[in-house]
Amino acid sequence: MSEQYIESAVTDPETAEHLAHIGSVRSRLEKEGRVGELAPKYYIQTFGCQQNEADSERLAGLCAAMGYVKTADPEEAELILVNTCAVREHAEKRALSIIGSYKHIKDKNPAVVIGVGGCMVTQKARADKLRGSYPYVSFTFDTGAVDRVPALLDNALQGGKRTFVLSDEWKIAEGIPIRRESKHMAWLSIMYGCNNFCSYCIVPYVRGRERSRSAEAILEEARALIDDGAKDITLLGQNVNSYDGGPYDDRRVDIAELMHRICALDGDFRLRFMTSHPKDASDRLIEAMAAEEKVVKHFHLPVQSGSDRILKAMNRKYTAEAYLEKIAKIRAAVPDVSLTSDIIVGFPGETEEDFEATLAIMKAARYDMVFSFIYSPRAGTPAAAMENQIPREVSSERMERLLALGAKIADERNERFVGRRIRVLAEDVSKTDASMLTGRGDPVRPVHFAADPSLIGQFADVEITAARTYCLEGKLV
Ligand code: SAH
Ligand code: SF4
Ligand code: F3S
Repeated sequence: MSEQYIESAVTDPETAEHLAHIGSVRSRLEKEGRVGELAPKYYIQTFGCQQNEADSERLAGLCAAMGYVKTADPEEAELILVNTCAVREHAEKRALSIIGSYKHIKDKNPAVVIGVGGCMVTQKARADKLRGSYPYVSFTFDTGAVDRVPALLDNALQGGKRTFVLSDEWKIAEGIPIRRESKHMAWLSIMYGCNNFCSYCIVPYVRGRERSRSAEAILEEARALIDDGAKDITLLGQNVNSYDGGPYDDRRVDIAELMHRICALDGDFRLRFMTSHPKDASDRLIEAMAAEEKVVKHFHLPVQSGSDRILKAMNRKYTAEAYLEKIAKIRAAVPDVSLTSDIIVGFPGETEEDFEATLAIMKAARYDMVFSFIYSPRAGTPAAAMENQIPREVSSERMERLLALGAKIADERNERFVGRRIRVLAEDVSKTDASMLTGRGDPVRPVHFAADPSLIGQFADVEITAARTYCLEGKLV
């Protein structure tokens, strides 16, 4: 996998102060002769969504800047960073169990430093738990404190006190170096945080209030990415429709205008965005998708439930009818659009009738893919305190029905690509067949086709020959 190093301007003095520790760590390593072959290794374990993946690329950028070298094996790392997720209980359990499994690494080599960041440790109770029950963890840092990692490491290496950072304000730290996992596909964060407070969701508590990066900084990063060979760029934010141009602009740059400006940049690339809240997906955004050739015709528009009663209890601020109207608008403007959704099963109080309304909206919306989750109570959110929590067996049974319907519709939707010529970005050698490449185009599912690996990172015209359950198959034309 290729790596890339981008440095943008540091805009605030506090971040500059934190990043100055990069130099201290680096020069100490140099003095000890720990460079080149002898350089210490870092290992990063990432849970959760694309925002976390993007943050981990910043963590990797910081590690590299400090003089550490990447390893895929935690056993040989001297710096282990775990980037956690808190969206469901399962995610937290997995993170805690991985962190637990690193104890023996620290036992073998006390010089190893283990740090934990991300959404889980942005909750005080979890940071406290790590402080109390995981004494081999040197530091934790909340989602707004990625820029503090060099200082935290510097302190740990000098035998300083264990530190648990919980910031009281969330800002945007520009200027953190980024080491990307892929050269041709890139995450580009345009905003952070969420103000929506859906009643089940922990994200607003662990990611803070919405704040947008300046359009200028985003365009600069996009330009650098494209120059470096990025072909597929995804604009990231919990709710990209709330993008407002950031504090340095005139605040009239909305998501549509931002997309137009990025598409106007020279180069052969595609643009995606994630995620849109149905209540805010604007006409202007839909028009931008329709008008801009570079924008991938894919809308991820999570519905969560098809029952108005449940949508209200979820604080989603739309009805099933309004949602379907929004979809009709999108399909009118972009007839071939791929539509995907997130759905929660077993929200407190969900009756069989409510659940059937969810199945009904799936049939009406005809999603290309659905990401479905059994409701998981999150301490501190309103839904966790609601009566009528749904027993696991009931949720599991509903989930099975939902999955079956989702797969059936997705298969039907996928058929439309058979016989078509599609422009695919060759991403990698297929995991199941070494003679095949896997790539992505407008369809949501990956496309497999026989081709030489030298094509990786480039666009290819592929004729789709078959639709399978998890992929499309095609041949190079
Ligand atoms: N900001 C995005 C994604 C948020 S988290 C959005 O609003 O669409 C991704 C998905 O996780 C959500 O869409 C929701 O379907 C699911 N999710 C969030 N909290 C959950 C919980 N407590 N239990 C189960 N699923 C949850
Ligand atoms: Fe969570 Fe709702 Fe915000 Fe999405 S919009 S991150 S589901 S609170
Ligand atoms: Fe998880 Fe945080 Fe993303 S809770 S889903 S990593 S925003």
